[in-house]
Amino acid sequence: MNVLPACIAPGHTAVITGAALGIGRAAAERLAGLGMNVCLVDLPGVDLDAALEQVGKAARRDGAVIAVPADVADAAQVSALANEAIDRLGTPHLLMNNAVTRIGRGFDADLAEWRRAMDVNLFGVVLGVRAFLPAMQAAGGSRAIVNTGSKQGITNPPGHPIYNMTKAALKTYTELLEHELRSQAGTAGSSRVSAHLLVPGWTTTGRNPHKAGAWLPDQVVEVLLTRMAAGDFYIVCPDGEVTAAMDAARILWAAGDIVENRPPLSRWHPDHRDRFDS
Ligand SMILES: NC(=O)c1ccc[n+]([C@@H]2O[C@H](COP(=O)([O-])OP(=O)(O)OC[C@H]3O[C@@H](n4cnc5c(N)ncnc54)[C@H](O)[C@@H]3O)[C@@H](O)[C@H]2O)c1
Repeated sequence: MNVLPACIAPGHTAVITGAALGIGRAAAERLAGLGMNVCLVDLPGVDLDAALEQVGKAARRDGAVIAVPADVADAAQVSALANEAIDRLGTPHLLMNNAVTRIGRGFDADLAEWRRAMDVNLFGVVLGVRAFLPAMQAAGGSRAIVNTGSKQGITNPPGHPIYNMTKAALKTYTELLEHELRSQAGTAGSSRVSAHLLVPGWTTTGRNPHKAGAWLPDQVVEVLLTRMAAGDFYIVCPDGEVTAAMDAARILWAAGDIVENRPPLSRWHPDHRDRFDS
């Protein structure tokens, strides 16, 4: 990669939630290797400890990588996290709200699971933005907030309604956030806090075995940095099975359900799926 986004530079600071595993950890390792200070945020436990050790090895100086255990759904913990991260590493140039829970399967899931999923996947992001954005804006310069969404929050495939719902809400929130930041900055806003929606494809993360067709987290991080450098808001990643053209067709088809007065999720409807497939 030749061009990096302005917020990514040696000595700059990144705060990444869900950084103990998967895409968050890969981003942390990449940014530490580029000479950034990185604050790893995750639930306390062995995964976070291991990530601190691994990402610390990529760092260019001692003390550049710290781990702050926190539950992103807890307002007091997120507020304490912001104080600690800014105190130890400075105001972030990049805030990556990436933590996720996949708790709760199906419409019959316990209501507490529906609420927990919204608390982590949506309000965890809202809390992160509220805790860090004022300092990021006050510090000035080019800074960025990346919220990790999902194709499931855009094209809405059946099977995991709770997750889809949280990611659809996150997409709406992030779109509105970027509009607000852009509007506040006005025409003089080339140097400001920008928001971006990262939408990974199928990526091997957590403790899942790697399967043919999936991407690895490093590939997602590469696309993220390239597309941020280009100034893109929607950063939709393909994978080994789904091309960008297929994603575009699926997104347009989902929007077409409304304007063509089809039933929702018509891609999976017996009267319509053949037309989509063709
Ligand atoms: N892996 C994929 O195929 C894929 C596809 C589309 C979108 N995404 C999105 O990418 C992001 C990263 O996903 P991943 O697959 O790398 O995840 P992962 O499961 O590998 O890691 C998620 C991390 O979030 C942490 N976490 C969970 N609840 C938390 C909380 N309350 N507070 C703090 N940390 C918490 C977990 O402990 C874990 O370390 C997520 O937002 C996910 O929705 C992933």
